[in-house]
Amino acid sequence: MFVWTYKANLRPFIDGLKKQGQSIGFVPTMGALHRGHLALVERSLRENDRTVVSIFVNPTQFDRKQDLETYPRFPEKDLALLEKLDPEMIVYLPVAEDLYGGPVQREHFDLDGLDRVMEGRHRPGHFDGVATVVKHLFEAVRPDRAYFGEKDFQQLRIIQTLARKLNLPLQIVPVEIQRETDGLAMSSRNLRLSVAHRKAAPEIHRLLNLAREMALQGQNPEAIRMEISKRFKQNPLLELEYFEIADEKTLQFARTFEPGKKYRAFTAVFAGDVRLIDNMPLY
Ligand code: PAF
Repeated sequence: MFVWTYKANLRPFIDGLKKQGQSIGFVPTMGALHRGHLALVERSLRENDRTVVSIFVNPTQFDRKQDLETYPRFPEKDLALLEKLDPEMIVYLPVAEDLYGGPVQREHFDLDGLDRVMEGRHRPGHFDGVATVVKHLFEAVRPDRAYFGEKDFQQLRIIQTLARKLNLPLQIVPVEIQRETDGLAMSSRNLRLSVAHRKAAPEIHRLLNLAREMALQGQNPEAIRMEISKRFKQNPLLELEYFEIADEKTLQFARTFEPGKKYRAFTAVFAGDVRLIDNMPLY
């Protein structure tokens, strides 16, 4: 395994691989790796000669100080998992100032309004922080393909837009949500759930499934939104932040389901002090 912390060392190493004609897959993470991350890494290993995984808890994308401070960190366990998947794995553990090349602060991006709804509305500055760090990571790694999970579907759409606007010569590869056997979407934050909240959390997936059934039965987005919001409110362990149905491409809220377009249900829920997000394609 090859572990790099400074761009000045990582870059020539990657240049060397590229000169040999090797393709580079990239999986950016904030660590506390779970099977969801490993699915991204396995896909990258299948589709590229070499894979780079970055582990960096990016301060500029956290809107709540407590969330940044309590974000789970298991660097040794993460490295062991990665080495087991591929002894030739390239791991990038950036030092914040080196990665940012100066002050560790957000830049502002025009993301075609994709950043103004849902997560963007509830977490001001979050997507500017994500776009800033992903831009720096792409500049450091210069991958041919980068892998992002659909659990953060809004993030995925924003990164696709960022890559297009910055004319980056790379392919963004979406990877399906990985779920626990009871349906809970895999997330590093699940580790912080209390026993009671962990038991209650699969209700999120059940209600997304219900939304899908209602859509397939011909109910309109507003009727679905009201019914699902009502059901969330009946669960005393879950506090709904939002439940929305939106066009997959524009992420604008849907008033009707128009033929030929794709729609998804999106939700953010507090289970105690842990904020969970999930989504599901409706059509
Ligand atoms: O999805 C994440 O883990 C993070 O938002 C990312 C893409 C690694 C940027 O910090």
